[in-house]
Amino acid sequence: MNKTSVRDIGVEGKRVLVRVDFNVPLDENTGEITDDSRIQATIPTIKYLIGQRARVILISHLGRPKGKVVDELRLTVVAQRLSQLLGQQVEIAIDCIGPRVEKSVEELNNGDVLLLENVRFHPEEEENDTSFAQALAHLGDIFVNDAFSASHRAHASITGIADYLPAVAGLLLEKEIKTLGDILENPAHPFAVLLGGAKISDKIGMLENIRCKVDSFLIGGGMAATFLKAKSYGVGLSLVEGDKLEFVTQLMGDIAKQRKHLVLPIDVVVADSLSTEATSKVVPVENIPSGLRIVDIGPLTIDSFSRELERCKTVFWNGPMGIYEIPQFTAGTQAMARLLANLKSTTVIGGGSTAEAVIEMKLADKMNFVSTGGGASLRFLSGKALPGVEVLMDKEK
Ligand code: 3PG
Ligand code: MG
Repeated sequence: MNKTSVRDIGVEGKRVLVRVDFNVPLDENTGEITDDSRIQATIPTIKYLIGQRARVILISHLGRPKGKVVDELRLTVVAQRLSQLLGQQVEIAIDCIGPRVEKSVEELNNGDVLLLENVRFHPEEEENDTSFAQALAHLGDIFVNDAFSASHRAHASITGIADYLPAVAGLLLEKEIKTLGDILENPAHPFAVLLGGAKISDKIGMLENIRCKVDSFLIGGGMAATFLKAKSYGVGLSLVEGDKLEFVTQLMGDIAKQRKHLVLPIDVVVADSLSTEATSKVVPVENIPSGLRIVDIGPLTIDSFSRELERCKTVFWNGPMGIYEIPQFTAGTQAMARLLANLKSTTVIGGGSTAEAVIEMKLADKMNFVSTGGGASLRFLSGKALPGVEVLMDKEK
């Protein structure tokens, strides 16, 4: 990466402001953290800074409180979890800016860690307000961005703050960019993309940018309906993105012309509703009943996807194969997760719901990399700059 790393600069005794993404899922009823992978992913950077005797000040958002204090979105549970993971007490500040926070910062010794309160309690964060960014910057000497998964947001604590402090990349951010960058630049071939999720529109930018490198396109999930429709199959009540039919038709034509592989579902699970009470059955794609909708890939498709992926050397996966929120419709996604976990090839998982599924199945360790960023990784793979990365200092030649 051509950006300066936190390892390239001296931090001992410095007040180091680290933007992390502790936007973790919480249990609706208990408020407990249901998946702490985003916290775990930042531990290397935090431990590195502790080891270097820096005074560490962490900035994060949690949820979408829309500029107001929402008690359920306080970072208290995060501070507790982080303290456990680090094996040292992490204090939480009363707010993220202001005299009382400055006082907490002044009291820090080298090697201490302070977590600022949810930065999105202030509307100025998402507005990227200059004075707010300055107030944040006032708390530190150096800014480290380790929040890859929020780096597609041009917010005060991600981009604005870099106007006032030397700004460098954290270890997680570096690793994300290195791994996803390798996929863009020199994937081992054959290179497969396994795509799912509700909509193709989220993935068009990425497809446009990486299609020349890809050897196999495997399409499942809700987005398969638009491909099937473009091939003149009836797809019942499944969502078809009418304005994307032309793109899909052209993509399929190009794939055929270039003698690359396109693997579409040959059978699907269809259901009468999107609920746990739904009645469902497996049908070949030629016979999707008009009153039903696609909710998962079928067993023959799982086999055909598996055969194709087994011959590939790099696999990038983004998007569940079915309606993952409903337990009956998770078979396709789970089968793909198990298959990828056992492949010898390089397996990279896009963030968001795909990462959630892999983590929930306890298979994350078996993949080469699971991105912490959903939107951010798609944006990166679409070749667009991430504002939070752009603002970091270039590496000295
Ligand atoms: C995420 O979870 O996608 C990031 O933390 C960014 O959060 P946001 O989508 O609410 O901006
Ligand atoms: Mg998001």
